[in-house]
Amino acid sequence: MKKPRHFISLLDLTGDELRQLIDRAMTLKHVRDHDYQPLKGQVLGMIFEKSSTRTRVSFETGMAHFGGHAVFLSPRDTQLGRGEPIADSAKVISRMVDCVMLRTHEHETVVKFTENSRVPVINGLTDREHPCQLLADMQTYFEHRGDIRGKTVAWIGDGNNMCHSYIHASMLLDFNLHIAAPKAYLPNSEIVALAGERVKFFDNTVDAAKDVDLVATDVWASMGQEDEQKLREIAFKDYQVDTKVMAAAKPDALFMHCLPAHRGEEVSADVIDGKQSVVFDEAENRLHSQKALLELLLCGNAKISLLND
Ligand code: CP
Ligand code: NVA
Repeated sequence: MKKPRHFISLLDLTGDELRQLIDRAMTLKHVRDHDYQPLKGQVLGMIFEKSSTRTRVSFETGMAHFGGHAVFLSPRDTQLGRGEPIADSAKVISRMVDCVMLRTHEHETVVKFTENSRVPVINGLTDREHPCQLLADMQTYFEHRGDIRGKTVAWIGDGNNMCHSYIHASMLLDFNLHIAAPKAYLPNSEIVALAGERVKFFDNTVDAAKDVDLVATDVWASMGQEDEQKLREIAFKDYQVDTKVMAAAKPDALFMHCLPAHRGEEVSADVIDGKQSVVFDEAENRLHSQKALLELLLCGNAKISLLND
């Protein structure tokens, strides 16, 4: 049996593949051809062990556009929630569906699922990485400003799953990344080490944002960290993206946030609702970039070229 191609980390793509995928996502966004159904009859299983709005709606809609179908599975209603081993679940589910998207807590769960799956597995977010979001963020940057190579991005706040995937993006697309995070919430040092000189750390948000092309942030307490909310509000109080931070960036700098956002915590309302913010383009691009991803994992090149003719 041919080994399936998985997408559990942004590093599962090469830089060239990521650029091609972004290009393809931009084509798919502008060519809404309802006769183009490359995944007719195919099924995506979507396992959500955490909440979701964007990831669920974008994958489900993308499969429908492509003539396929998506099945929503939650631990509440499946045997996963009653302790069926992840390896057994992967063996069973992957004998029935054509692709699986998994959103879960430990990254190792996705790795284990992948090792036992006959079909491509997509990481829909783990505590360590959120690669699908970076496909959309990078598409959004390319749409508004062109190639990100050689540009500088400021990551403000938690050194979390999003921050890790930004580090991976900086490696693949060759941009500089400035990180301002409290000392106790820095990103994983092994992930940082992979990126070498591209990643630099700053003690305060304004210094990190000085002359950058893009400012990005995320919630102070991620899913699963709700008990730490109060503690984190104290630790992160000097890490809000506000107008002072945006004023330090280049005048045409963009602001991004994967959403959902907490106005008044990690970002002020005037920034997220202001002119430099592209957060809703980012959210929409989840749909287009994931359609490009599904094509890459599930279709042959012949099919992909159809829409380009
Ligand atoms: N950005 C993101 O992944 O959103 P959801 O949690 O709503 O899927
Ligand atoms: N860091 C956030 C991202 C949500 C899309 C979380 O993991 O909850």
